Amino acid sequence: MVILRKAEEIAKLRASNCIVAEILLEVQGRVAPGVTTLDLDRYSEELARKKGAKPAFKGYRGYPFSLCVSVNNEVVHGLPSQRALAEGDLVSLDFGVCFKGYYGDAAMTICVGSPSDEAARLMRVTEESLYRGIEEARVGNRLGDISAAVQGHVEEAGFSVVRDFVGHGIGRNLHEEPQIPNFGRKGRGVALKAGMVLAIEPMVNAGTYKVAVLPDGWTVVTEDGRLSAHFEHSVAITENGPEILSRLTP
Ligand code: MF3
Ligand code: CO
Repeated sequence: MVILRKAEEIAKLRASNCIVAEILLEVQGRVAPGVTTLDLDRYSEELARKKGAKPAFKGYRGYPFSLCVSVNNEVVHGLPSQRALAEGDLVSLDFGVCFKGYYGDAAMTICVGSPSDEAARLMRVTEESLYRGIEEARVGNRLGDISAAVQGHVEEAGFSVVRDFVGHGIGRNLHEEPQIPNFGRKGRGVALKAGMVLAIEPMVNAGTYKVAVLPDGWTVVTEDGRLSAHFEHSVAITENGPEILSRLTP
């Protein structure tokens, strides 16, 4: 069952997601050659604490950190470490909080210094595909309209969407129904209604969509070793269309 949130609950989700957006922006500002991914994790946690929010990922299914940092061929759930970032690295930052009982979740991919042509195009197409998906998050549409819009845009560009991980509903839990695949068919699936809040998160690979999990039990990597990018927003479906909760200026 997909929960429909009242206006007061959407307001709380807006507050949580706004905190996530602010922190992601600050963490992004710290990304530079020589900075370790663990530095970014600690910074994100410190910022959350200052804002009175709880990092949502820490302890979730045993995840040991506050931030996911996935570099280059890493798709999602990259574990912060002593790895120092280097010029040209493609870095996906995924962060979530719980604030006053409601969750926020968002992700973005940036480059350390200037990206290769492929990395630049991958970032652009992945972010565009997120917005194509968000555009379909409307009353009267179906879940498959979101999935198909993301997949269509990505595959038209010659890239591939990851199948093994999906977006999700978000609310009083980090992960709620429905699951939101980044592939699917228009007109299929759950009918979208006002009050649904969805974390839409395309994970896009430059090469094959196939992925593997490293022996650390978390880090998801591309099977072919090529680049991957990830963008995520938490979005409320309203009578007036989609509202992106996880951005600073509505
Ligand atoms: N944004 C990711 C998700 O929605 C992050 C989860 S990482 C975990 O699934 F560590 F919390 F599992
Ligand atoms: Co998510």
